[in-house]
Amino acid sequence: MEILMMGAPGAGKGTQAAYLSKKYGIPQISTGDMFRAAVAEGTELGKQAAACMAAGKLVPDAVTIGIVRERLAKADCEKGFILDGFPRTVEQADALERILSEQGKNLTLAINIAVPSEELIERAIGRRLCRKCGATYHVKFKPSRQENVCDACGGELYQRADDTAETMAKRLGVYEASTLPLIEYYKSAGKYAEVDGRCPISEVTAELIKVLDATEDRGR
Ligand code: AP5
Ligand code: MG
Ligand code: ZN
Repeated sequence: MEILMMGAPGAGKGTQAAYLSKKYGIPQISTGDMFRAAVAEGTELGKQAAACMAAGKLVPDAVTIGIVRERLAKADCEKGFILDGFPRTVEQADALERILSEQGKNLTLAINIAVPSEELIERAIGRRLCRKCGATYHVKFKPSRQENVCDACGGELYQRADDTAETMAKRLGVYEASTLPLIEYYKSAGKYAEVDGRCPISEVTAELIKVLDATEDRGR
């Protein structure tokens, strides 16, 4: 199963991709997580990505396409993958088509988690992440049992540097200008589905599983 998790910043791509990755036994590939790891390691890629991320801008297509191409060539992607946060531009979507066809694969489905922009800001500002295992929490919608401590591993929770009201406004602008056109892109390819992302996390997960299982059944 080759799935794209689409949605605006804060829509719930990472949260849902993590559940689906466990359920279907295929890796979650988040370009945002890959860039944050590179920033933490202080690599050349990290230095380049850090400046773009802090400004709420996209990392250049050539850089992003390069890391995704490398990642999709790894053995754990053989049975499929869930891309989270890629593609974000038409150029990236075209590149993904080329990569998949080189690998003899076909995109199964692009699923968009639709959430109104007013709710996205609250989601991003209240988000907390575990420094050790990367688990995602929300101070109001998915609180950890103990404040600032990860339920899963006991790690310390932190806030992403780009989760401020100011940077979120920029990220939403970039999303509308560069990424929103991909909805039409996948609709016209007959590969598009949408779920209502306003519901509680577990309901969105159930809806996604319904859509994916129906797509799998049709493919059999
Ligand atoms: P990235 O890390 O991908 O950020 P994003 O797209 O802005 O999305 P987020 O991770 O903020 O949101 P999400 O949809 O994963 O939501 P989450 O599940 O965490 O990218 C960061 C930066 O990296 C970009 O700005 C860019 O600079 C660069 N980059 C990345 N990919 C790139 C690419 N392809 N090309 C170029 N540059 C790229 O949920 C958010 C919060 O809401 C959490 O606290 C969660 O607990 C809560 N929540 C989730 N679902 C619900 C629900 N149903 N109800 C209530 N709360 C919920
Ligand atoms: Mg994310
Ligand atoms: Zn943790």
